[in-house]
Amino acid sequence: MTPPVPVDWTALRAQARDAMSRAYAPYSGYPVGAAALVDDGRTITGCNVENASYGLALCAECGLISELFAGRTDNDGPAPRLTAFTCVDGAGDLLVPCGRCRQLLWEHGGPDLLVDTAAGIRPLSELLPDAFGPGHLRG
Ligand code: THU
Repeated sequence: MTPPVPVDWTALRAQARDAMSRAYAPYSGYPVGAAALVDDGRTITGCNVENASYGLALCAECGLISELFAGRTDNDGPAPRLTAFTCVDGAGDLLVPCGRCRQLLWEHGGPDLLVDTAAGIRPLSELLPDAFGPGHLRG
């Protein structure tokens, strides 16, 4: 789904950096912040939250996807959809989402989700080609 207006990527990156500043990453020392536009007009964010049991670390995208649903106002409407996404590291530089998080983004943004990368703004379909998704389960 295409965003209704041109995306202010500078503002979205600033939101991601702000979220990154609140990350809990004492084990990796690698704070991450993510921000996204939603087709209902919201801007949502997330930060990574680690755990003493290292493998349980929650990526910034996990918090963002939780917020996608926890912060929705129209519970009876269609599921909210991501339209534009950015993610930054502790230096505030762009970070490409890990493989697992590309799959999370695919579920809620699909192939046309705009992703902010060092190589430019790219559709998620370029970052996750031949993706498995909800359509496969529908047969
Ligand atoms: N991390 C994210 O939050 N998102 C990604 O897409 C890549 C990795 C986090 C997980 C962990 O807390 C830290 O970065 C180091 O891997």
